[in-house]
Amino acid sequence: MAKDNSKNNNIILIGFMGSGKTSIGLKLSYKLQLAVEDTDKIIEARENTTISEIFAAKGEGYFRKLELEVLYEIKNSSGRKIYSLGGGTPVQLQNQSIICKCGTVIYLRAKPETIYDRLKGDTTRPLLQCDDPLAKIRDLISKRSPAYERCADLIVDVDELEQSEIVDAIVNYINGENCNEDTCN
Ligand code: S3P
Repeated sequence: MAKDNSKNNNIILIGFMGSGKTSIGLKLSYKLQLAVEDTDKIIEARENTTISEIFAAKGEGYFRKLELEVLYEIKNSSGRKIYSLGGGTPVQLQNQSIICKCGTVIYLRAKPETIYDRLKGDTTRPLLQCDDPLAKIRDLISKRSPAYERCADLIVDVDELEQSEIVDAIVNYINGENCNEDTCN
């Protein structure tokens, strides 16, 4: 597969909360010997507080503006890193075209039940602090899936896979993308 030169060289992990972006990002970082960054962590460090506090004190709209700023920085950066994006980042139409330029986009796709199993009891995701988190997860995933799919160069269905298999699927894709017909036959 030929490399798309309109994209930066980064690897961008997208997917719903709890789809494994952070842990797969770390494993991928080790395997590919690339630095990994998490956009939520960048925002928390800059604001010197947690995502929950930002939502509570300044609202979701403010958080989304900070997300957009970080996205522009990734798009305008040089070099190669792995970035895991917050689960809501691809939702805004404006963000989607920027994400596509940030690098090769990998969508970790998980079923609502998988997410619910992983995140039940979690208190760090403000959007899931409600009476029926499973219903909220189902609703958000059905609304967000088209956005995730539009951004993705590769979709990995993670529900039945071990982390090592997910990493291998991504590495195989990235290696294939870096091949060209002269050197890879
Ligand atoms: C959000 C996902 C979170 C975080 C914030 C909003 C979302 O990131 O950005 O709570 O809208 O789905 P993770 O996907 O890393 O949990």
